Order: sequence, then C-alpha cells, then structure tokens
Amino acid sequence: MAEQALTYLITGINDDKSLATAVADRLVANGHRLVCTGLGPTPHHGDLSERAGSFLETTYASFERTVAERYGNSATTLPLDVTLEPSIDDVAQRLRDDGTALAGVFHSIAMDKTIRAGAVKPLLEVTLEEFSSAMQVSAYSLISLTRGLLNAGVLAERASIVAVSYRGAEFVTRHPYKNVGVAKAALERIIKELAEELGRSHAIRVNGVRFSPYTGSKAGGAIPGLVEAEQMCDELSPLGNARPDDLAAEVAYLLTPETRITGDVRNVDGGYHIRG
Ligand SMILES: NC(=O)c1ccc[n+]([C@@H]2O[C@H](COP(=O)([O-])OP(=O)(O)OC[C@H]3O[C@@H](n4cnc5c(N)ncnc54)[C@H](O)[C@@H]3O)[C@@H](O)[C@H]2O)c1
Repeated sequence: MAEQALTYLITGINDDKSLATAVADRLVANGHRLVCTGLGPTPHHGDLSERAGSFLETTYASFERTVAERYGNSATTLPLDVTLEPSIDDVAQRLRDDGTALAGVFHSIAMDKTIRAGAVKPLLEVTLEEFSSAMQVSAYSLISLTRGLLNAGVLAERASIVAVSYRGAEFVTRHPYKNVGVAKAALERIIKELAEELGRSHAIRVNGVRFSPYTGSKAGGAIPGLVEAEQMCDELSPLGNARPDDLAAEVAYLLTPETRITGDVRNVDGGYHIRG
C-alpha cells in the first residue's frame, strides 16, 4: 500500500554525497514532500568577510543545485544557519505562512573548527570558542530548531525527529574525533531529553542513528584518518559498512507516524558496534 504523502524538513544537504540527500531521495521515492534547508546567506549574517560571504554563497548554490537536479520544483528550498536564531525563526515563519504541517525533521548538521587542513586539535588545546561553536552547530541546534518549529506551530502532533550521530559520541575512535565527539555525546543526550519532554507534551518522537564512517561527504572527507577507519570498519563489521541508502531506509522508518520508538539511538553500521 502506498504511504500517505507527508511533508518532511530535511536539513544538511550540501551535495549529492550528503547523507541528507540519501534520506531525501528515499522520502521522495516513498511519495512524500520535502522542505529542504541549506546553509547559506541570510539577512541576519550582518557584515561578513569576503571569504565567509563567498563560502556561504557557494555552499548554498551547491545545495540548491542538488535539490533542483533531483526533485525539480517539488521541494521547497530555504537558507538556514542554525547559529542564528532569527534564521531558524525565518524558516519556521515561512512554513507557518505556507500552512505547512511537518510530519518530521531530519537533523544532519555538524561542524567542528578544530578539524582543519588534515589535523585535529588535541582536546587540551581547544578554545572555549571552538568548543562552543561545535556544540552549538552539532548539538544545540537540535534544541533550537525543534523549539523554533514548535513555537511556530508547524510540527504536527505525533511528528518524528531524527538526528545522525556517530560511534565517536561514546568511544575514543581509532581516528581522532575529539571536539566533535564531545558534541555528538551531547547530541545523543539531547535526543533522550527531548524524547521525554516532547513525547509527553506533543506525542513527538525523537531518535538518533549512529552511522558507519563515510568519507564520501564533505564533512566525512575532512576528518583525518577516516579513510583508514572506513576500511577497517568495513572489514570488521559482520555485514560490512552501512551505506547512505541503509541510513535512509532506517531514517524513513523512524520518520513514519506509526512507530512508538522514541529516545533511541540506533546503530546503522553493519554490526560494527558489537565489537569490543
Ligand atoms: N560522514 C560520516 O562519516 C558520518 C558518520 C556518522 C554521522 N555523520 C553525521 O551526518 C551528518 C551529515 O554529515 P555528512 O557526512 O552528510 O556531511 P555533509 O558535509 O554533506 O553534511 C553536513 C551538513 O552540515 C551543514 N552545516 C554546517 N554548519 C551549519 C550551520 N551553521 N547551519 C546549517 N547547516 C550547517 C553543512 O552545510 C552540510 O550540509 C553530520 O551530523 C555528521 O556528523 C557523518
């Protein structure tokens, strides 16, 4: 039986290789509508350096091109920088004006300034600004985005929220994950706290998925040592590494209105997590 057409908010599409793109593909194949947000320039950015402005322009162009090529005009595209609360409010307000009721949200956003040029800073050298920035973008944004959407009344009763995490939230991985690992740990705790609060108040579910190392994306490709980790995990996982399609299948399932799963962080990693 075909699924009822619902509307989902997809964050984190950067290009064809983004994990969010695989999830968006799956939802569209299942007959759903998408609102996609991409990091890009907003009226709230103020005076940016030429470099920062051009980074935002290029990033947004890549996002728009990816969405247009895959879904044509059927998906709405909006800029979103989760570090700016007014940018979150703009997205929420636009959805409200359009009369959108979101059946779910996919959070696929992370950033860590201490991973640069093939190196990862030791935690002892991480500044408060670098720590807070990774925490804000990669973890706190799940709270702020959810709040913005909830306050605007655009999250449907029984909606489902899913965020992507990584084994490095809990374990010291072979490759240095450090600052962003701490942020992922926070993200996983936030998932549980929000599941408790939103389940009781709105019957909204909140879950996470820990995914295999994946160097195909921009974020994954920037992590030093991830190529080797990807290969090692592929060999040691009973089923081999999970692929973006596998993540998409699990996320699409968690996003359906029918499940009674909440506060869970599932492993979509070919079974790597059972290893000691
Ligand atoms: N690649 C991996 O190995 C892997 C494994 C497990 C989990 N993850 C997680 O999956 C998610 C998606 O990563 P990906 O691998 O698809 O890489 P990606 O680079 O395609 O996606 C990261 C996204 O975060 C967005 N972003 C960064 N700062 C932002 C901000 N201030 N506001 C709004 N958006 C912002 C980027 O624009 C980009 O679209 C991340 O949470 C990542 O930690 C990745």
